[in-house]
Amino acid sequence: MKMIRIIIVTVIFLLAGCAENRTTQDDKEQFVDSLLAEMTLKEKIGQLTLYTSGWTITGPALDSNYRKYITEGRCGNIFNAHTVAYNTELQRLAIEKSRLGIPLLFGYDVIHGHRTIFPIPLAEACSWEPALAKKSAVLAAKEAAASGLNWTFNPVADLSRDPRWGRIAEGSGEDPLLGSLFTAARVKGYQGDNLSDSNTIAACLKHFAVYGAPEAGRDYNTVDLSMRTIREVYFPPYQAAIDAGVSTVMASFNEINGQPATSSTYIEDILRKEWGFDGVLVTDYGAIAELIPHGVATDSAHAGMLALKAGADMDMQSGVYMQSLEGLVKEGKIDESTVNRAVRRVLRLKYDLGLFEDPYRYLDAQTETEVVHSEELMDHALEAGRRSMVLLKNEPYKGKKILPVMNAPARIAVIGPMADNRIDMMGSWHASGDAQMVVTLEEGLKNRFGNADIRTAMGCGFYGNDISGFKEAVRLAEWSDLVILAIGENYVQSGEAASRSDIGLPGAQQQLTETIVKTGKPVVAVLFAGRPLTINWIDEHIPAILYAWQPGTRGGDAVADLLSGEYNPSGKLSVTFPRNVGQIPIYYSTKNSGRPFNPDDKYTSKYLDVPNEPLYPFGYGIGYSEIRYSDLQIDRKVISFGDTLHISVTIENVGEYPTEEVVQLYTRDLVGSVTRPVKELKDFRKVHLEAGEEKTVTFALTADDLRFYDIDMQFVTEPGDFHVMAGPHSAELLTTAFRLER
Ligand code: NOJ
Repeated sequence: MKMIRIIIVTVIFLLAGCAENRTTQDDKEQFVDSLLAEMTLKEKIGQLTLYTSGWTITGPALDSNYRKYITEGRCGNIFNAHTVAYNTELQRLAIEKSRLGIPLLFGYDVIHGHRTIFPIPLAEACSWEPALAKKSAVLAAKEAAASGLNWTFNPVADLSRDPRWGRIAEGSGEDPLLGSLFTAARVKGYQGDNLSDSNTIAACLKHFAVYGAPEAGRDYNTVDLSMRTIREVYFPPYQAAIDAGVSTVMASFNEINGQPATSSTYIEDILRKEWGFDGVLVTDYGAIAELIPHGVATDSAHAGMLALKAGADMDMQSGVYMQSLEGLVKEGKIDESTVNRAVRRVLRLKYDLGLFEDPYRYLDAQTETEVVHSEELMDHALEAGRRSMVLLKNEPYKGKKILPVMNAPARIAVIGPMADNRIDMMGSWHASGDAQMVVTLEEGLKNRFGNADIRTAMGCGFYGNDISGFKEAVRLAEWSDLVILAIGENYVQSGEAASRSDIGLPGAQQQLTETIVKTGKPVVAVLFAGRPLTINWIDEHIPAILYAWQPGTRGGDAVADLLSGEYNPSGKLSVTFPRNVGQIPIYYSTKNSGRPFNPDDKYTSKYLDVPNEPLYPFGYGIGYSEIRYSDLQIDRKVISFGDTLHISVTIENVGEYPTEEVVQLYTRDLVGSVTRPVKELKDFRKVHLEAGEEKTVTFALTADDLRFYDIDMQFVTEPGDFHVMAGPHSAELLTTAFRLER
């Protein structure tokens, strides 16, 4: 019987698709319809079911019967299973043992690399090079596909202006333009030109919607924001992913303006109707069942009904669809056509991935051996690491700059919990990142400064007050000619379910830092973290600060390349660094308010105990060369709708090192029907400059670039006066003005 079914499916496929035009939409639809016609309701629901492969990362394991379900055709999709051997075994169950032999999707959180880990996405956005992120995604897809995967739960388009929220690590920072460019680049990187290529995988835009703005920065918490802010600030990166052709979307855990995202009208009204997305919408982990504690569903059947009707096609891990949908259809509470709509989307995706043609397409042991940790991937991990780090400070110590460390001092002390640490270099969501492959900071420094005597001391860990290691650390500092403080967060101190109300250095590291600085030795602070940390003390007392984020597999080499000047730091912050948590939410594109800060007037918008300004502004980052900006010019003072305004600015590398500078362009709309931010990033360019070289960078702006949601929520440009600004970061800009007329 089973054999006959397999033959039937094969024949359907051949009839529908074996002609030359196999890939046309018609063929696909015909194939999907014929298959759907063969399916029982149970089998249909199976295609809407996604289970983890026995072990769990982000929630309780709700069901370990996944093998049985696959065989019965009741579970059509698996996540967290990887390696060719394992996934082949599971795919065989689906193909050979289930009645219809429909292939499985294999999903996984390949967020910043699969086995070879690249910098966390927030860091990668500090490169201001979407092309770099695209390449990371291309290579991550290649490695993931070689390991038997065909679907990643990435990119994360959640814009965030709250570094308390641990998942800020996974996104591209605070800005809609930067976020959109990076998100789109990642989608294109994962999916390539053809999803059925064996080195591309389906991407998943997440988390729809506005997951990055939970109240008080606490993960999974309520989101309540004006639709104007949502549309203007938070939506663009999601929409960019849809426009880039992302195949799937994941609904977010949070409620948004009173509706849990999983069952919200946003899915149908915005994602489907407005943005035209017709791919698979998967829920997040157990999220359908969470509609009960959210307070919109009375029981799990009710939750299932709400989710499916809202447009959630696939149930990740809650088992609600498996348990309740059949009953709901039989009781007439859900029309089978609603189930069919979701099943069609899943089958189309499998078709696009080429799985019906060859279910073992991503399952080749030879390719796995060749691709995993290949030279290409390891080289890119280094390059991405170098381009993602941000030099925050480099002031003279005793009259001379410590960085770059041109001639390595004889004795280097590397002190702190990141001194000789593999796993935390990879950061949160490091998928199947192989810690054994990680180059630690100590190793990186030894690779780079071969002749120096390099020694390490942890000093303390990431938790608690244990300072018993301080003595040894101080002894080592005193022995040394240079101290490199390697401090920050471990990999679970940011990421999912890792919100923090105090974003200073965790554990006894602040005390360790102060103790080491007291030795009077020259100190460089290298910070490893998944979020901006409040590092005022370090900024005041340590002359050189490199923010290395969580740089991935080649992290140690990348840091050493920057400290030595082998690579001139070029990263610029994708997110604002607050001085303390009381300033949060903090971002550069604020509104002016009716009482903008005036130091001579008490009754203006400010704090009594901290400046309004951040510690480091959005877009900030320095290198070893000083860059001078001058001569901001516009080609006319008045433009009309339909015209293009050209803006040019001159930059000169007045330092001794070749460098790459990110030139940033901002505008301000001075008067509108609604208030406008004091600055909005409109464009940027990363420019290479040799030592002493001067270049003029030209940007073009049109009226379309100045659109916003007006008083009637129409996305329009209003005529009037504008400022246009260019410079090295959001708080240091040359300004000129123009007028837009009808
Ligand atoms: C929960 C997370 O929110 C989501 O980002 C992830 O993709 C799933 N778990 C699956 O691991």
